[in-house]
Amino acid sequence: MPDTLKSIAVLTSGGDAPGMNAAIRAVVRKGIYHDLKVYGVKRGFEGLIHGEFREMNLGSVADIVHRGGTVLMTARSPEMKTQEGQQKAIEQLRMRGIDGLIVIGGDGSFRGAQALSAQGIKVVGVPGTIDNDIAGTDLTIGFDTAVNTVVEAVSKIRDTATSHERTFIVEVMGRDCGSIALQAGLACGAESILVPEIPFDLDDIITKLRRGHRRGKNHSIILVAEGAGSAYKLGEDLHTRSGFDTRVTILGHLQRGGNPSALDGVLASGMGGKAVEILLAGESDMMTAYVNQEVTGVPLSIAFGPRRPFNRALYDLAGELAI
Ligand code: F6P
Repeated sequence: MPDTLKSIAVLTSGGDAPGMNAAIRAVVRKGIYHDLKVYGVKRGFEGLIHGEFREMNLGSVADIVHRGGTVLMTARSPEMKTQEGQQKAIEQLRMRGIDGLIVIGGDGSFRGAQALSAQGIKVVGVPGTIDNDIAGTDLTIGFDTAVNTVVEAVSKIRDTATSHERTFIVEVMGRDCGSIALQAGLACGAESILVPEIPFDLDDIITKLRRGHRRGKNHSIILVAEGAGSAYKLGEDLHTRSGFDTRVTILGHLQRGGNPSALDGVLASGMGGKAVEILLAGESDMMTAYVNQEVTGVPLSIAFGPRRPFNRALYDLAGELAI
């Protein structure tokens, strides 16, 4: 272990995701286990720039492993995109003698991490976002919980859809990525799944719904990723062109809350621990990643490369099963 590493800081940035607290806990406890001083930075890069640090102890992360959100709080920071903001952040770290920074967040947060790394700060990114849209890792912290939340919500919506013989358009998050819609749609048996990665044709959807109706199936769920278009517009068009009784539900930020699933708890603990190991080994400019069912470290730049291809086979399977 290089003898220079004495103190590190951790922050959460961008949209929160279930499991971030488990990752914070892992960073703090693993750091203390290895005799490091560990600081928590409040409100992401905003807090880094404005000096909102607090030294963490074992008790600071007690009773949070199972809780959603982030005890460090989070923010999106336009100032961090500027050279002045980055300079202030670096000064705050140097002033406290902090040798390494762990950034838990999505690819926007990793841009800030990369900028600090380019200016000599030792940085490790931990992918935390419900969107699962970061290249180089098969999973991001929070995705599994969000998918489970959608499946649970859709099963409730299906109850009322069945009773009223309605077609529900359910919009889920994911920015420009259809992973939540795909996985949740397959798991809950959605009749159609609309994602930004694959163009859709309203006529095909209507044909499918009519085929279902002829078989006596008078309710349907269409799961739409937010990046695939407006659920309200789709609902209107569908009603106008098919006459089906249609309702729209936007699941929204419900998907960002809740206790992390066991998978997210394990992933977040593993990634938090790995991030500290990377710093202890004297490495920097890295990201923790879940590859071939193992937590590992990869260069941070991979996060900005081409994303894992959309799982077309799973999408086609979902279509075949919802015939
Ligand atoms: O990146 C996570 C995410 O929840 C996206 O799925 C969504 O598009 C966005 O954040 C919403 O951001 P905000 O909470 O700032 O409205």
